[in-house]
Formats: sequence, structure tokens, C-alpha cells
Amino acid sequence: MQPLRIGVLGSGSGSNFQALLDAIASGSLPAEIVLVMSDVPEARILERAHFAGIPSSVIDCGGHTKKFPLASQQSVADAMMAAGAELICLAGFMRLIKTPLLHAFPKRIINIHPSILPAFPGLEAWKQALDAGVTETGCTVHYVDAGMDTGPIIQQVKVPVYTNDTYASLHARIQEQEHVIYPSAILKIIPTLTR
Ligand code: GRF
Repeated sequence: MQPLRIGVLGSGSGSNFQALLDAIASGSLPAEIVLVMSDVPEARILERAHFAGIPSSVIDCGGHTKKFPLASQQSVADAMMAAGAELICLAGFMRLIKTPLLHAFPKRIINIHPSILPAFPGLEAWKQALDAGVTETGCTVHYVDAGMDTGPIIQQVKVPVYTNDTYASLHARIQEQEHVIYPSAILKIIPTLTR
């Protein structure tokens, strides 16, 4: 079987993208990353892609800071198709995906979120968890639908919250687990993808 062709969308540091690259390099994930796209021209994820020799490009969102215009989504769909992506992994991508991207990649877009969904959807879920006073949170890999962090769950792992945690310490502990479950969730769904 040929390696799974993955496209990545990210807006920030790209540590989850890096974790996928590392899993591929170690031989534990039979995949290749064919394209990285970011809506943030200065995002570190683009530097990481450049350093790894992976094609990358900036998504033109027409000057909108939050909105993901339909024309921009269509251009992402077109670029991902042209790159031959079979699965799109969101790795810290900060805009909501709608049609036409969802239609172009049905059940083929997944996301990693820093909480045990359905708890704490949305922004900075580690802050939400700490503020809520829970003793346990975690992270989730899920399929993307038109909602905010609502699609079917693929894999989750729990992470303890300690009484002396800060936002930063809790986020770091969650991220350690994200880097383990993202490649593992992809491995889990490979047999379900028609190829
Ligand atoms: C992660 O915490 C992920 O769960 C969330 O955004 C963050 C991205 O981090 N969706 P990175 O850019 O992969 O380092």
C-alpha cells in the first residue's frame, strides 16, 4: 500500500505537524505530507515545512482576520486536490471549515482539539478546563463537520489537572499527549479510507 497522502492546515507553531513528520520519519506512520497551508504568513508551521522540504503556501483570506471566505476554502480544496491529498489534518488551524472544503473531502478532514470533547469546545480549551476547576481534561482527535469541534470522535486521551497548574503547564501536558494521539488516530483510520 502506498503511503497515505496528507495535507495539513495550520495557523500557529505547528508542533502537531512536527509530531506527524516525526512519526512518519520513525516509520510508525505510513504516510507522507504533501502540502502545508496556513492562513498566517508568519506562522512557524510554514518555517517547519520549509525546513522539512515540504511544499507550503499561504491561504489568501482576502484580508479577513477570522472569517474563512468560501472562495478561500475553494482554493484550499483545489490546492489539496492538485497535491493529491487523501486526508486533511487540521493542526492548530483557527478558522471554521465549511462547504466547499467539507464537500471536496467528505469524512476526510480531521482535527486535534485540546480537551475531552464534547467538554470545552472552542478557543483555549486548556484555560476553560483550568477555570472550570476540573481534575481531568485531555485531548481529542475527531472528524471535522460544519460545527465547532463537533464531529465524530476518533480517539481521546485523558490528562490530569494538578492544583498547582498554570495555563501554560496544563497546555504543555496536553500537547505532549496530542503529539502521541494524532499519529495514532491517523493510523487507526487508514483502513477505513477508500484508496
Ligand atoms: C493544539 O493545542 C491543538 O489542539 C489546537 O491548537 C493547538 C495547535 O498547536 N487545535 P500546534 O500549532 O500544533 O503547536
